[in-house]
Amino acid sequence: MQFAHFDIDQFLRNHWQKRPLLIRNPWNDWQNPLEPDELAGLACEEGIESRLIVRDGDALKMESGPLPEARFGELGKEAWTLLVQAVDHTVPDVAALIEPFRFVPDWRIDDVMVSYATNGGGVGPHYDQYDVFLVQGLGRRRWRVGPVCNAQTPLLPHEDLRLLPDFEATDEWVLEPGDILYVPPGFAHDGVAVGDDCMTYSVGFRAPSRAELVEGWADHQVDRMAEDDRYADPDLAAQPHPGEITAASLDRLHAMVLESLSNRADFARWFGTFNSQPKYAEADWRPEDLATPETVQDSLAQGIPLLCNPASRFAFIRQATGGITLFADGQSFDCTGETADLAMQICANATLEADPALAASSSAVELLVTLINQGSLAFDDGEED
Ligand code: SIN
Ligand code: CO
Repeated sequence: MQFAHFDIDQFLRNHWQKRPLLIRNPWNDWQNPLEPDELAGLACEEGIESRLIVRDGDALKMESGPLPEARFGELGKEAWTLLVQAVDHTVPDVAALIEPFRFVPDWRIDDVMVSYATNGGGVGPHYDQYDVFLVQGLGRRRWRVGPVCNAQTPLLPHEDLRLLPDFEATDEWVLEPGDILYVPPGFAHDGVAVGDDCMTYSVGFRAPSRAELVEGWADHQVDRMAEDDRYADPDLAAQPHPGEITAASLDRLHAMVLESLSNRADFARWFGTFNSQPKYAEADWRPEDLATPETVQDSLAQGIPLLCNPASRFAFIRQATGGITLFADGQSFDCTGETADLAMQICANATLEADPALAASSSAVELLVTLINQGSLAFDDGEED
């Protein structure tokens, strides 16, 4: 799926993380990638995160999935909406929706959530912490957007939903199939289905919070610290007031903390592994028969294409030495030469044809064996797991 018209540079300059944008059908030939029935099927599956939100007079009631199949038959005239998280992990045509948005780096991508709603259905006015492209797949939806909210914005008391009580929109549009609404973090928004069979694909991004970064990085460093690495004051001089923690002591204590968190190279490796941890562990591609250097060499030599697990996260950083470090599902791999080229190809493509000559590269073969056995990659030999 590609855009026929969409000015990326202009979008990044004027809208990304700044203000909402309605993009009227920019696709070459928009095709709704998933049938409502298939979405309902996913909501019944164990290990897939889903929610059903049913209107009850003025209120909204939420049920968490997996839903019993019979639940859909029980739904009456009240408007409802079904939301399924990370559909891109299981449906390749939905994963393909991310492709045109890859002007935003992969490490910022969260997932594609898909919603289905009957006339009047929606999740209510709210704001999200993340950037989202709301792609109208099927049917029509009225979106109302604005103003900007933050942690001080009051919310309605609700057990499950973070709803805004006095939502007054600044803009309003009805989206038709193929139209896209971009909403930056914090902007209030409310989408209500206009007519039945309304499907919306939320291509969502993520941004780590400062708290997550500090907690994760500090935890990682703490694990590597020795018990006897302590504050020391062999230069202690008698101080006038025994109750005072002096500025000099505080400087030394503060420096102990900052120094242990400041190593840029260690931080880069930690962040790559932290950020590439998979969101859901269920889409497990680990093979029953483990790959070996011989099986990988064989498949490479035969030119069998490689598939990336759509639930896996891949990213890389460049090293000053010329090599790269590949991150895949929370693991890191230092790569040079043809193995670095292969790793970058893996980061760029959901399916790839590796050079058969790589069968002769022990480091490339070793990387593939590890990635296949940890479930991040598979040779597409036509066999279903
Ligand atoms: C929806 O698809 O109904 C909700 C998407 C959103 O508001 O983030
Ligand atoms: Co939202």
